[in-house]
Amino acid sequence: MDSIIVRGGSELHGEIPIAGAKNACLTLMPATLLSDEPLTLTNAPRLSDIRTMTELLQSLGAEVTSLQSGQVLAMSSHDLNNHTADYDIVRKMRASILVLGPMLARDGHAVVSLPGGCAIGARPVDLHLRALEALGAELELKDGYVHAKAPGGLKGGTFEFPLVSVGATENALMAATLAKGTTVLKNAAREPEIVDLARCLQKMGAQIEGEGSGTITIQGVDRLHGATHPVVTDRIELGTYMLAPAIAGGSVECLGGRMELVAAFAEKLDAAGVSVEETDRGLKVTRRNGRVDAVDVVTEPFPGFPTDLQAQMMALMCTAAGTSVLEEKIFENRFMHAPELMRMGAQIDVHGGTATVTGVERLKGAPVMATDLRASVSLILAGLAAEGETVVSRVYHLDRGYERVEEKLGACGAHIERVKET
Ligand code: EPZ
Repeated sequence: MDSIIVRGGSELHGEIPIAGAKNACLTLMPATLLSDEPLTLTNAPRLSDIRTMTELLQSLGAEVTSLQSGQVLAMSSHDLNNHTADYDIVRKMRASILVLGPMLARDGHAVVSLPGGCAIGARPVDLHLRALEALGAELELKDGYVHAKAPGGLKGGTFEFPLVSVGATENALMAATLAKGTTVLKNAAREPEIVDLARCLQKMGAQIEGEGSGTITIQGVDRLHGATHPVVTDRIELGTYMLAPAIAGGSVECLGGRMELVAAFAEKLDAAGVSVEETDRGLKVTRRNGRVDAVDVVTEPFPGFPTDLQAQMMALMCTAAGTSVLEEKIFENRFMHAPELMRMGAQIDVHGGTATVTGVERLKGAPVMATDLRASVSLILAGLAAEGETVVSRVYHLDRGYERVEEKLGACGAHIERVKET
């Protein structure tokens, strides 16, 4: 397993290109199952999760060709010959559950392994299943697999999500495009990745209204045709790199960044003493003073502060002047970065879903371990501000969601290198 070594202390100056969104691409790729015509995605990120989804779609008989070193994914599911998503792939990546809705809608049957939990929580899929049942799906849980049937095809229906779920909204939205009649999804997720999926489905001929609002209405159609669609910019990668100059000092332009993708987050950065300026190439982020001020954070569904930026924000608050309270309201166990940050001298008190951080002048570099995707990048960020050397091990977590992190930060003056495991 590779490690990444960061030597803290240098300010960052330069520009960082932001890639296409992992969490948009992971729902856009299964959309190819809805049509027997080719779907091509451009601006695709080059990440291990995308390779895992490619492997899953290919196991179902779809063709996925990666072009331009992974930035273009040419897909076709003209000849699906398998409707079972196996546990050994699904357990590697929970987003695999997103093949369920499209397969069921297209061919009337699907067998998908339950994904199981992960480091940040139990991650149930009950809302995915209830939403599909509202569209007439007959589901049976057997030996850890969901056996889904829709003998006469799916039928439009109304479903109100008891809590906002990104993945369940995506599964239901894709399934509804081919259901007979009208579907109304209430309390639907409003994330930019949902809007991006809806835009792609509309290009394929789907009739969708209200995407991005809490209520999405879909008129089912008989079939969808092919399309080409650019993956939306990754707002979580964007927010992560916006934090780099905030924590290390300096000024960095995040190319491709758009304020509407990170408005709530940018507001918090501004309150902490970090300027975010829209330029014609992206977002320019500059730390105004020598040390940021502590601010409080509550994670919420979009357009609120994203849970996927909570770990990274905590790293910044570890060096802030004052005390910050971070409330994680989306996942039940998303503070695993805290004990690792405390190894670097951070002062963090965790009680249930609330972490109280008392900022310190300087963190100290130390060997730390990545536990999940966003926790691992928060340790890299902390290393940028720490005195001495930080060694982050198990960076395979990092490679799931961040392309060439050492190159992107290194290009702005960070002392960072990847050590390949011998
Ligand atoms: C998506 O996960 C993202 N993953 C997550 O990003 C992100 O943290 C999350 O949305 C919230 O924004 C992808 O898009 C691939 P949810 P998802 O369904 O869809 C509960 C990252 O780091 N819930 O919105 O799984 C669930 O337990 C990853 O890139 C149910 O109870 O999240 C959680 O508490 C991590 N039943 C809450 O809802 C269900 O059926 C929100 O989960 C589904 C979810």
